[in-house]
Amino acid sequence: MLRLGRYRYLRRPLCRSYKVLAIESSCDDSAVCLIDRLPSGPKLLDHRKSTLNSAKEGGIIPIDALAHHLQQLAPLVHDMLEENGRPKIDLVCATQGPGMFSSLAAGLQVAKGLAVAYNVPLVPVHHMLGHLLTPRFFTNAQSPSYPFLSLLVSGGHTMLVLSESVTSHRVLVDTIDIAVGNAVDKCARSLGLVGIMLGKELDEFCRTGPVAEIPADLNFPLPLEKRNAASSLAFSFAHYASIMPRISKKFGLDPLEDQPEPVRRAIGQRLQADIFHHISRKTTKALNQLVEDGTLAKGQPIDLVCAGGVAANSVLRSALETLKSPVPLNLHFPHLQWCTDNALMIGWAGIEMYEAGIVNSGLAAVPLAKWPLSSFPSETA
Ligand code: KG4
Ligand code: ZN
Repeated sequence: MLRLGRYRYLRRPLCRSYKVLAIESSCDDSAVCLIDRLPSGPKLLDHRKSTLNSAKEGGIIPIDALAHHLQQLAPLVHDMLEENGRPKIDLVCATQGPGMFSSLAAGLQVAKGLAVAYNVPLVPVHHMLGHLLTPRFFTNAQSPSYPFLSLLVSGGHTMLVLSESVTSHRVLVDTIDIAVGNAVDKCARSLGLVGIMLGKELDEFCRTGPVAEIPADLNFPLPLEKRNAASSLAFSFAHYASIMPRISKKFGLDPLEDQPEPVRRAIGQRLQADIFHHISRKTTKALNQLVEDGTLAKGQPIDLVCAGGVAANSVLRSALETLKSPVPLNLHFPHLQWCTDNALMIGWAGIEMYEAGIVNSGLAAVPLAKWPLSSFPSETA
């Protein structure tokens, strides 16, 4: 028997027909689902989600997110169970981290109550593991098969990960400052857009309507391009957000949000092209390095999952489809609904952990606001 930090690897008979209730509450989405884990593949019986509306606040306020989860989660679970004939639950899964401590705590506590009441195991799940395993739900764990790469792009994370098994993840590229979703949201706000999913608003805004001609030098310089080892395999997005006021002043477009729509659309398009070009360049660099160090054999295809909220972006998707790569890439883009935070991904990651015999402290789990994927599943600092 192996031991890994808080986790114990148990040898157990594989029981592959059971019902799973999963909860995701790491940020501002209260999401719950019911999965029927059948030997032929998992079947999603129900999924419900309620997102806090922070449009007026211009950002997520942790105490408001907590109040939202406290208000929403229990009724969501209650109604879902009621409307599905109160099925017998065999396994409960909930996000343990990373995320907002109070939001995570709200979901974990509901999950613990359910696990106690049903007298079943509780699997606390790493949120990013959920994102990267999502495509495997739809193929009954057949594809992508290990090892595979994931580009995780969300409001809190931007990283390229090499996963060798459910418990082994190497972060190849990470952001040195803020996440791409955070930068995109800030830029969208500077461009006068409003809504609860600003990246999505920007994506849609840029795709529909007339576009003005803007100067060629109104662009967003690529960060971390100097040939210095520390920065060559890293992402950086902070300057995309901070450059907006300088651009508007330099080109006489102040205040930016009051400019005609075609001008704002042209700037938005350029921003999206430049920010996703940065992600593509670093991904290509990492792929080249994997070939150079022998991790990947030249010519041997590798699966690349693109997940997290920003993976829904149309410009990023086309950039990855034409990515320069030393090896053929099999791209996996989860359906838009499963790119943003959801409970299906937590239920499925919990199933993969459970079936691999990984059981952790469950009922005693404490939220982990910070939890590097590379240190999963052993205890974090
Ligand atoms: O994964 P996610 O739902 O939550 C986090 O774990 O952060 O990602 C949310 C992020 C937000 O920044 C949102 O604006 C962004 O994903 N997003 C998009 C798109 N849809 C959502 N960004 C760019 N284009 C989209 N279509
Ligand atoms: Zn997420």
